[in-house]
Amino acid sequence: MGFTPDFLDEIRNRLPASEIVGRKVRLTRKGREFSGLCPFHNEKTPSFTVNDDKAFYHCFGCGAHGDVINFVLETEGLSFPETIERLAAQAGLEIPEYTPEDKKRSQVKKTLFDVMEVVAHWFESQLKAQIGTEGRNYIQKRGLSKDTVKKFRLGFAPPSKTSLKQAMLARSDITEPMLVKAGMLIKPEGGGESYDRFRHRIMFPITDRQGRVVAFGGRALSPQAKAKYLNSPETPLFHKGRLLYNLSGARKAAFEKGRLLIAEGYMDVIALDQAGFPEAVAPLGTAVTEDQIREMWRLAPEPLMCFDGDKAGQRAAIRVVERSLPLLKPGHSLRFVYLPEGEDPDSFVNGQGHQAFEKLINAGIPLAQVLWSELIGGINIDTPEQRAGLEQKIGRILSEIKDGKIRGYYESDFQKKLQKLFGDDFVPEINLHHQDKFYQEKENHRPKGRNSRFQKNDFNQKASEKSIGDLKKTTIGSSQKSSTLDRERLIILTVLEHPWLLLRHEELFATFEFESVELDKVRNEIIRIASRDSDLEKESLRHHLIKNGMGQAREIIFRQGVLTAQKFIGLNSSKEETEETWLHLLEAFHLNKLEQDIALLESTDLSEEDFARLQALKEEHFASIRNYGASWEKENS
Ligand code: UTP
Ligand code: MN
Repeated sequence: MGFTPDFLDEIRNRLPASEIVGRKVRLTRKGREFSGLCPFHNEKTPSFTVNDDKAFYHCFGCGAHGDVINFVLETEGLSFPETIERLAAQAGLEIPEYTPEDKKRSQVKKTLFDVMEVVAHWFESQLKAQIGTEGRNYIQKRGLSKDTVKKFRLGFAPPSKTSLKQAMLARSDITEPMLVKAGMLIKPEGGGESYDRFRHRIMFPITDRQGRVVAFGGRALSPQAKAKYLNSPETPLFHKGRLLYNLSGARKAAFEKGRLLIAEGYMDVIALDQAGFPEAVAPLGTAVTEDQIREMWRLAPEPLMCFDGDKAGQRAAIRVVERSLPLLKPGHSLRFVYLPEGEDPDSFVNGQGHQAFEKLINAGIPLAQVLWSELIGGINIDTPEQRAGLEQKIGRILSEIKDGKIRGYYESDFQKKLQKLFGDDFVPEINLHHQDKFYQEKENHRPKGRNSRFQKNDFNQKASEKSIGDLKKTTIGSSQKSSTLDRERLIILTVLEHPWLLLRHEELFATFEFESVELDKVRNEIIRIASRDSDLEKESLRHHLIKNGMGQAREIIFRQGVLTAQKFIGLNSSKEETEETWLHLLEAFHLNKLEQDIALLESTDLSEEDFARLQALKEEHFASIRNYGASWEKENS
């Protein structure tokens, strides 16, 4: 027996944790949470909390943690299916039929998923048939191969008003109301016969996380058609603001490559896949939503937004920037890839090929820089009022960032850029709150010495000089892939610079999973050295590495790690802060891995075992975030 994650989520959504837990534990409200005596261990003062917004309980005394499902499982002694049955009844939900016998029986009673599958198959068959000639010609003209057509299950909706309807109703297992519910037939409001929603179009099946067809996009073949693209309406299966086109197809490649490309259209995603970029998705005919940004972050930490190189594309990019600010969390951001004027990813890869596009993505511009360029684009800063106005605007926009730590970094970064922009006229600390201590250290007061490589900020300043000019020309951003590499380098670089970190964190460093084989080797060597010399100095570490043939690797790490080192560590100089920053870097990687594992599990039907594993991962994730948050807070205060 398996339950879909959606179904389990629906249970969690419908049943407030405080209600279910409240039946066993006397709870008192404390602000947004409830608290009470923990039912999982003996205690006299309450350390057990329940949070309805987050839909979980947590005990600070014994660490017990979970959602309503866990609670019933642990307190009622029921099996997993029994627990779900009981909670579903309380939530007023019907249990989906899942046992093999049920499946057989329900052959007669097709589900909407089945209907969509049959429809997708029928569109495919129409494309292959005589009637699909026009569609095949069009697809050929667009340069799509047979394999691509098959992989994306492209189809053809004939021009006639009821061809789909007739074909479907000729079957005994599909009814008209089902087709209406699935969004495939339109039933006129004022009565009258229903008819096919999609006519004379190339059909693009849209699948859910698990690859099941839940909707369609249709591209008009006739230039006279009212809408070039027509999409399924919202149905019980399809919520366009939550899904991404090709999500299930791109997931594997995105994990493997550590990057995700976001295009604007279906044809772009398909063309990218055919050109060797299977890690591409697109929103579904709407602006990118918050849910979609969160979804992207499940697949990669810094999705690359590839927008058309026209005004509309730029505007779309800015909208995404604004939407993402409140959602930013440590380790997660976005990058922006700008195509040449008049091109979209489809036309670009078809015209210029794989390599050229790879180059373009590698020049992806970080979110912070796009935001900065937008803020100062086309403004005057000649008068004191204009300058103050700009500062105010920047302060206002940055206050959108909810994550305090990230906001702090943005503010100090933008302060520096402003200083550069205003030159001598700069009056610091006007409107940006959260003044950073490190910012207030003026350039010439910066301590010099052997750590000075971390103190210079030419990277940021160069960036801000450039960003005032043409955005498209800036290439300081590195690709997603190398950004993982950059961060892995930084982990090692920090140890090379501060070997004393190993005194307390040798095990953590020794067990870190490097993606880079080279860096893995260097780490192993460092650990080997450290295990013999417990009081390792920077210089002796250097000598050891050189003696053991790793001098060159060390050089490269230093040379290529500099940029990021300035971003991450250059802002701090004390031992505590170096340690904190470094630990966060490690933690961010760990969190990321956990999130990927969770996303992978969540995309499948869950057996009881999977459920337990998912729950364990989520707990670990939760604990990690707690640690992560707590140490940032400590650092902040
Ligand atoms: P574009 O107009 O950029 O189309 O719309 P495209 O993807 O380049 O398509 P081709 O190359 O002309 O075939 C981008 C996306 O916006 C949505 C669709 O999702 C489309 O893929 N769109 C566009 C609509 O939903 N309706 C429309 O009428 C047009
Ligand atoms: Mn196009």
